[in-house]
Amino acid sequence: MKKFIQSLPKVELHLHIEGTLEPELMFELAQRNNITIPFNSSTEVKEAYNFHNLQSFLDIYFQGANVLVHEQDFFDLTWAYLLHCKDDNVVHTEVFFDPQAHTERGICFATVVNGIHKALAKGRTELGISSRLIMCFLRHLDEQSAFKTLEQAQAHKDKIIAVGLDSTEIGHPASKFERVFKQAINQGFLTVAHAGEEGPVSNIHDAMNLLQITRIDHGVRCSEDQALIKQLAAERIPLTVCPLSNIKLKVFDFMKEHNIVDLLRKGLCVTINSDDPAYFGGYMTDNFLAVSNAHSMNKAEIAQFTLNAIEASFISECEKKRLKIMTQKYLDLHQ
Ligand code: HPA
Ligand code: ZN
Repeated sequence: MKKFIQSLPKVELHLHIEGTLEPELMFELAQRNNITIPFNSSTEVKEAYNFHNLQSFLDIYFQGANVLVHEQDFFDLTWAYLLHCKDDNVVHTEVFFDPQAHTERGICFATVVNGIHKALAKGRTELGISSRLIMCFLRHLDEQSAFKTLEQAQAHKDKIIAVGLDSTEIGHPASKFERVFKQAINQGFLTVAHAGEEGPVSNIHDAMNLLQITRIDHGVRCSEDQALIKQLAAERIPLTVCPLSNIKLKVFDFMKEHNIVDLLRKGLCVTINSDDPAYFGGYMTDNFLAVSNAHSMNKAEIAQFTLNAIEASFISECEKKRLKIMTQKYLDLHQ
């Protein structure tokens, strides 16, 4: 099964590029940019990654992002992630970035987006990995800051397919971003939002009703609402689930208690993703393996996660068809 999972074509839909910053690159960039970080070694950094909830992670995540200054830094970060994609047979990825985590420190929006975009373009030509870029608003910041960020994105609309919503979920309701999402939709952006990760199931309803999202990031707390589960299954509204992240941030105590396989079997369009792999202990293959080790599944069920991700992705119908055929062929060959 390990070999089957390793070589299975994969599609990633929930990945924060800032969350791929490995300790080694963090040190390299800190040195390059003359930035002090409160760690002496990679081991010390990893020891600090003992999170008890979302906020305890976010504090470390934003601190880590401080070493990213120049376009080359964002390029190097993204390129390192794409090499992991290659190792894990990720054929398509939809990448989040948090512009406000950088513009708030005086870094230009263009520096961030151009560095990431150039690496993604190289990934396409040199590694054969297709990609899309999604700009997230930080929900702990105010509406005005989100509007300013949307304004900054205008010059880069060709590089950004959708807007999203991340950071502290509890205490920062979707309603705060209803108007900015409406404007983004009017400008042609697709929309996604983190909801029901550690916040209540009502946050999922709010994301669907107020932000008109096309897929939900996390959404695992939908289990608390049977009517919602039925709706998600009937309408095939995708959930981008992040198994290792959920364990690290104590959304579930153990992988055996995770509801992802149950949701898959109920017919929901659930997908497996790595969220912030440098912080949560693994990239795509590790996440697939963690789920498959804790829940017994057959190969068709495991491949269904890829088929769901293709269905939920922001690529053309023609490209979806190509990836579906590729995945089905792989499954047929390895049954
Ligand atoms: N949740 C909310 N915000 C985030 C996350 C997450 O899992 N990762 C990076 N920003
Ligand atoms: Zn996330």
